Amino acid sequence: MAFQERVFSGVQPSGNLHLGNYLGAIKRFVELQDRYSCIYCVVDLHAITVWQDPAELPRAIREVAAAFIACGIDPQQHIVFNQSQVAEHAELAWVFNCVARLGWLNRMTQFKEKAGKDRENASVGLYAYPTLMAADILVYRATHVPVGEDQKQHLELSRDIAQKFNNDFAGSIRDKGFGDAFFPLPEPLITGEATRVMSLRDGTKKMSKSDASDYSRINLTDDADAIAQKIRKAKTDPDPLPSEPKGLEHRPEADNLVGIYAALADSSRAAVLAQYGNAQFSTFKTALVDLAVAKLGPITTEMQRLLRNPLAIDAILADGAARAQKLAHETMKAVKDIVGFVRR
Ligand code: AMP
Ligand code: TRP
Repeated sequence: MAFQERVFSGVQPSGNLHLGNYLGAIKRFVELQDRYSCIYCVVDLHAITVWQDPAELPRAIREVAAAFIACGIDPQQHIVFNQSQVAEHAELAWVFNCVARLGWLNRMTQFKEKAGKDRENASVGLYAYPTLMAADILVYRATHVPVGEDQKQHLELSRDIAQKFNNDFAGSIRDKGFGDAFFPLPEPLITGEATRVMSLRDGTKKMSKSDASDYSRINLTDDADAIAQKIRKAKTDPDPLPSEPKGLEHRPEADNLVGIYAALADSSRAAVLAQYGNAQFSTFKTALVDLAVAKLGPITTEMQRLLRNPLAIDAILADGAARAQKLAHETMKAVKDIVGFVRR
């Protein structure tokens, strides 16, 4: 069965939106708007799988929404909302908790990393995180999911859940008139030169919201001075830049900075190195600072402008949530019929 093409993706409101979120995710969200009907969600239910201060969370939610809009997502043509306003996400996640197997979740590397050594003390939500993520996508029967490289395993799990649901309930799906399959198998869209942006302090570690060192990342709220300082202090190696991408192998910091430049310039590593091959890092970093400030500066300014009017952001989220809920409600009605629940 052919499913209507639709894009869904989410970003957690857990503070410190950074260049990795922008290049790996939000910039791609923007590019997909011309080709697909898109739903972009601030996943606040996911954020509380680790502690979030209730006094900070509303601002973090509005900040992600402001980033979406400042980067160029059109909340009228598409849908922007926060997850907790559409209860169907949590409702479908429960059904998926009963479809997914413990063995599948036990393999999730993000849980292992986030739970760390003190696994007994991790929340049940952190463990079940991937089934909620599958519900986010499938409650809209979305077919394409733009994400950074780190979400690949979760996307594979979403496909396994969709497949198992379709198999387990195949008879009922057919009886209720939904054909051979009720859920599409969502495709990850992991593309471009910056699917995994690394820490500016250590090219073997992912750039992350939770790194203790603020110098490890460029935040979308950083001003031009902060961006310049962080790039100038970024770790490098002593050699000049190679003239071809092959020369970046085993040079994680060089590879990262060239990848960032390429992604910001909508170019490729090869083209960047054709221009900067044999240059010293000092020269290249100056060019990277100029480029980063030129591209990120307007976004930061626009985010700040939007954040001065939280009521306007809340109205956008409420409007998006109402439109999202219409779609999600239809899916949930069908799921209830397929599973065999009695409903009004
Ligand atoms: P999160 O902040 O974990 O909600 O991530 C939001 C989106 O940003 C997801 O699609 C991630 O895969 C992506 N992302 C997060 N960190 C990075 C990174 N360092 N490089 C590339 N993409 C990233
Ligand atoms: N787990 C994703 C992350 O941390 C965020 C997310 C939640 C998501 N639900 C999603 C991404 C659905 C894509 C689709 O980056």
